[in-house]
Amino acid sequence: MKFFVDTADVADIRSLAEAGLVDGVTTNPSLIAKSGRKMAEVIAEICAITEGPVSAEVTATDFQGMLAEGRFLRNIASNVCVKVPLTEAGLRTCRALSQEGTPVNVTLCFSPAQALLAAKAGATFISPFVGRLDDISTDGMSLIADIVQIYRNYPNLKTEVLVASVRHPIHLVQSAKLGAHVATLPPSVIRQLLKHPLTEAGLSAFLADWAKTGQSIL
Ligand code: G3P
Repeated sequence: MKFFVDTADVADIRSLAEAGLVDGVTTNPSLIAKSGRKMAEVIAEICAITEGPVSAEVTATDFQGMLAEGRFLRNIASNVCVKVPLTEAGLRTCRALSQEGTPVNVTLCFSPAQALLAAKAGATFISPFVGRLDDISTDGMSLIADIVQIYRNYPNLKTEVLVASVRHPIHLVQSAKLGAHVATLPPSVIRQLLKHPLTEAGLSAFLADWAKTGQSIL
């Protein structure tokens, strides 16, 4: 399973990349706004940190505007993946950009029907938002199960399921058990994955017993 980092915070991306935990990065207009930086500048810096796909989202809502913005974003770096919303204009843009060889991440997906449309439009990734469904008492993971099942019925569909809006480690584990290709994780969730109290307690006990031996390995 590929781990993407869901942030535009360059310091977080850099530290997680040094730990080998970054297979790609996803951003969106809210994450860019939170960074306080110019979009082209921060996307270029992120693309220099990781060789993996870096999602940069268009902000136009019409086809011609999305296409122009998508082509601009694509030219920032060779690993830019253009992100478009799951709207009619977004799917039209996805088809046009993918036919030009540009990878496209179709975002704001909340139904299996939407995911099927994105795959037919040639999307490289589909981003179903599990957390936002959970937030309204709807089971986000059942959407992932439906999409994975549908895509598996049609091997010619090349779109990868990129689980987004991840709120906690269980979303990741369940997504991996379902066979999703990618999860994009806030830095805080990636750091939570590592932690278990029994690991910490066990290590402390090992080191306490080792200290009693008076030995050192080197
Ligand atoms: O990549 C999409 C993700 O950033 C959305 O997450 O927490 O705003 O639902 P959230």
